[in-house]
Amino acid sequence: MKSPEFPEGERGAFSAEAVSSPTLPSRYYHDPQIYLQEQRSIFHKSWCYVGHVSQFSAPGDYRVERVAEQCIFLLSDQNSEIRAFFNVCQHRGHELLSGDGRRKNRIVCPYHAWSYGLDGKLIQAPHTDQLQDFDLAEFALKPVRLANCAGLLFANLDGNADDFATEYPGLAQTLTDSLPAVESFAIAYQFDYDIEANWKIVVDNFSEGYHIPVAHRKLAQVLDSGSGSCARQERRYAFFGSRSKAGYEGLDLEPGLPYRSWTLWPNTCMLSLPGCANLVVIRMAGNGPDRCLEHVDLLAEKGGVSPALEALKQLFADQFNAEDIAIVESVHRGLKSLGYDQGRYVVDAADAWYSESGLHRFHRLILEALEH
Ligand code: FES
Ligand SMILES: [Fe+2]
Repeated sequence: MKSPEFPEGERGAFSAEAVSSPTLPSRYYHDPQIYLQEQRSIFHKSWCYVGHVSQFSAPGDYRVERVAEQCIFLLSDQNSEIRAFFNVCQHRGHELLSGDGRRKNRIVCPYHAWSYGLDGKLIQAPHTDQLQDFDLAEFALKPVRLANCAGLLFANLDGNADDFATEYPGLAQTLTDSLPAVESFAIAYQFDYDIEANWKIVVDNFSEGYHIPVAHRKLAQVLDSGSGSCARQERRYAFFGSRSKAGYEGLDLEPGLPYRSWTLWPNTCMLSLPGCANLVVIRMAGNGPDRCLEHVDLLAEKGGVSPALEALKQLFADQFNAEDIAIVESVHRGLKSLGYDQGRYVVDAADAWYSESGLHRFHRLILEALEH
């Protein structure tokens, strides 16, 4: 791989050494050209979280999703294998499905009724018997690669990308070691937030714990930040563990219970909060350089909502995620200020809980991807 020429801002060039590097120049957060390049160089080539296996309980179950402004659908086929396809008819390009639901054994285009099997093959195209050189087999739906990681589904629009397991070695193991029943979890709650901030600011914010004692008073009551450490660091993901301190009203916690978090290139963050078995999966989708949609699936064991899960949902949704949204929107406005261009990464040789080294690694991957 060619070594990237790092961009220069008012404090000099971003460098591969976090300890001496200025942060990304602020134009990376609002330049429309950089945003478009990110769509092509990052999101059209990376594994992105798109859902959970529990959303597909029977053959024919489908859901429409978006990856990098591309519309795809996930579908359980006749053998209950979950597949993904670009959501576009091969006749003249009408979208095939919307929302979610179940198709018995075929997908019929609403425009001229070309019909596809649950395996994506074109099985019927009305009034095509007089066409020359027309073969139904050449008009199957275009597949999208899909990976199942401990029940979490990731799609990649690039047919030539490395396999998920190669890109994220050991990730499934970290999930099943932490949450042995994770593959049989179901979605207990979903949240969507329309945020006035560049998508990278939201990922940046999830990549560091430096702000927790300052900006999240209630979370800081629950978490013993000092106990945090990086349990596994790979090129495209990091896995952290720390411990609970105590609970708060509505959430009784023993001190020392595990809190875990993962950050996955490029736009997925996951948390498992202390108090009950749960996994909060968060993905950020850019909607132009100045907005992003944050989608959250709160996964938990099937079979009802416990008081502990309800308390954790409130801690996440009403407390620290709301606090984070106010933070990232303020940073987005600040990064447009003529009074700011680059700051510094606050890092620590031992990668202490407050270290912003994960942020630096994320920015380095951004710059490397934009180089190609
Ligand atoms: S566009 Fe789908 S059948 Fe014509
Ligand atoms: Fe935060």
